[in-house]
Amino acid sequence: MSKNIESILTESRVFELSDEIKSGFGLSVEDIDAMRKDAAEDHVGFWSKLAKEKLHWNKPFTVGLDDSNAPHYKWFTDGELNVSYNCIDRHLETKSDKLAIIFEGDRGDVEHYTYKELHDNVCRFANTLQAQGVEKGDRVIIYMPMIPQAVIAMQACARIGAIHSVVFGGFSAEALRDRIEDAGAKLVITTNGSRRGGKTISLKHAVDDALEKGCEQVKRVIVYRRTDDEVPMHEGRDIDWMEAEAGMSNYHDPVAVDAEHPLFLLYTSGSTGKPKGVQHSSGGYLLNAHLTNEWMFDLNDDDVFWCTADVGWITGHSYVAYGPLSVGATMLMFEGVPTYPDAGRFWQVCQDHGVTVFYTAPTAIRALMKFGADLPNQYDLSKLRLLGTVGEPINPEAWMWYHDVIGKQRCPIIDTWWQTETGAHMIAPFPVTPLKPGSCTQPIPGIDAVILDEEGNELHGNEGGLLAIKKPWPSMIRNVWGDDERYRSTYFPLAGKPYYVVGDSAHRDEDGYFWILGRVDDVLNVSGHRLGTMEIESALVSHPQVAEAAVVGRPHDVKGEAVAAFVVLNVDIPEGDARDKLVQELRNWVAKEIGPIAKPDDIRFGTNLPKTRSGKIMRRLLRTIAKGEEITQDTSTLEDPTILDQFQQKA
Ligand code: WTA
Repeated sequence: MSKNIESILTESRVFELSDEIKSGFGLSVEDIDAMRKDAAEDHVGFWSKLAKEKLHWNKPFTVGLDDSNAPHYKWFTDGELNVSYNCIDRHLETKSDKLAIIFEGDRGDVEHYTYKELHDNVCRFANTLQAQGVEKGDRVIIYMPMIPQAVIAMQACARIGAIHSVVFGGFSAEALRDRIEDAGAKLVITTNGSRRGGKTISLKHAVDDALEKGCEQVKRVIVYRRTDDEVPMHEGRDIDWMEAEAGMSNYHDPVAVDAEHPLFLLYTSGSTGKPKGVQHSSGGYLLNAHLTNEWMFDLNDDDVFWCTADVGWITGHSYVAYGPLSVGATMLMFEGVPTYPDAGRFWQVCQDHGVTVFYTAPTAIRALMKFGADLPNQYDLSKLRLLGTVGEPINPEAWMWYHDVIGKQRCPIIDTWWQTETGAHMIAPFPVTPLKPGSCTQPIPGIDAVILDEEGNELHGNEGGLLAIKKPWPSMIRNVWGDDERYRSTYFPLAGKPYYVVGDSAHRDEDGYFWILGRVDDVLNVSGHRLGTMEIESALVSHPQVAEAAVVGRPHDVKGEAVAAFVVLNVDIPEGDARDKLVQELRNWVAKEIGPIAKPDDIRFGTNLPKTRSGKIMRRLLRTIAKGEEITQDTSTLEDPTILDQFQQKA
């Protein structure tokens, strides 16, 4: 068991919020209880009522839930709406001069966009996309850094009914190509480069490399100039954003789409090699993105909300590009990294822009905690009133530091459990919920979370088991793009039972609080990023000198988990410098195949993998070795126990 999980399991402190904080929040504990009761009595009615209240519908829906083709559930099916209209236009009457986006670049450059300015930019770009031949239902890849144009591009797609798929800028050309091909995208939007940590990073080159082989269906690449770097522009294919946009109108009539029309695809890692295109809807997705920004973060007119996630991840969709705008809030986008020019950068940005609600990942908190309290104490953080966390279980030490040093014991810590597939927060406190460090507390109203044993029976005590969701909810994944079978077998593996099986293990304490223990499948959580062990193994095996590879996670103080690779070569295991060189080469190879986030931290060589006589790799043993622990398990079923000695030597 990792140190984090052990400390979470022994945690028993409860933090009640002060009456002052509780009274400043729009909903009381009683209101929340009443919502839970309503949801329990009429699940579909509960969500339908909220969908009518919170969203603008061009055509109102009459069907709440259509489960005729379960587990492909449909919500609000006969309704029509436009997501971009809901995020922008509906605020124009009362908030046209209110700031929608505050942007701070890597070098400290600042830009502001009011709702009116955002509207004009999104309309111009929506007109541009249509002029470039993009139509409703077409797939568009967005491969951009954290700059306002990424949100403008996403919103413009939503406005014309095109389905975007944002690919994280840290993914390699190979990973980008796989996603372009799987999505069947027609157009790619990118930048010449990005600025991070004082350096400029090229993005356009990766697009060129990705499009070099295959991807014939991509006819256009729109390039926004973020840096001064010149990049090659392919005649007839590539077009400069500003040139393409010249002369376009600031007005665009949003295209109303069915509630179930796919808003976006977002590729994420699973147990098998190929990342899956998680398909989200328009109506149901927006409803939960909207509600959770209201419920968990209590976003009001004078708030400045900063979610530090990149738009390449689901958090950057629901808590940057869509949710905060749907509720009409002001949100901040930051291009840089937390440690440049020094590890006080996050706190400087909070101070300078008066951030009131701050949302980040435990890995960032742990990394900044290492620098102590002096840096944050140099900045005025008095405007902060709520702090959020997401991505992995937060260890109580990091929770306490966040609470004491950043929140000055004043701000509730909103620990939000959810996934790419769930679209929005599922288990999380409201700002009035008593908190326990390390627990994401209780399911939000309308979410029916349960714990199952291996056979799929519900557990009612406080024993650990598989986390599952019993009833469909509006923002749930609709499909794995183009692969119905994979959708069913991955998420609804219990034949004849309606449970959406999450892939995490968890336990529920006597107060009904949930404690997430981690993934139960072959998915690693490295710095809050999801990586499939098989994806990394396939990348390693594609290297000409690698015959076989097994990848496991090991606990890491800052990243949560680190990648440990066990490699069998089809040449002799090199010694000394040659060995170091090969290790470096393999790490870079994985970065090229997937992206730098997937680079193994440790690589060990052996002449075979530890396999049972029936050929099964004993990953349990590899995990023990990766942790640097003594092997106490039974190794008698191993075909060749001497393999373990080889792997115990670290490269
Ligand atoms: C983990 C990120 C504990 C979990 C939004 C989940 C968490 C996976 C938490 C999804 C949390 C996310 N506490 N674990 N608050 N939030 N996780 O799809 O294992 O990138 O299944 O979505 O992250 O990762 P994903």
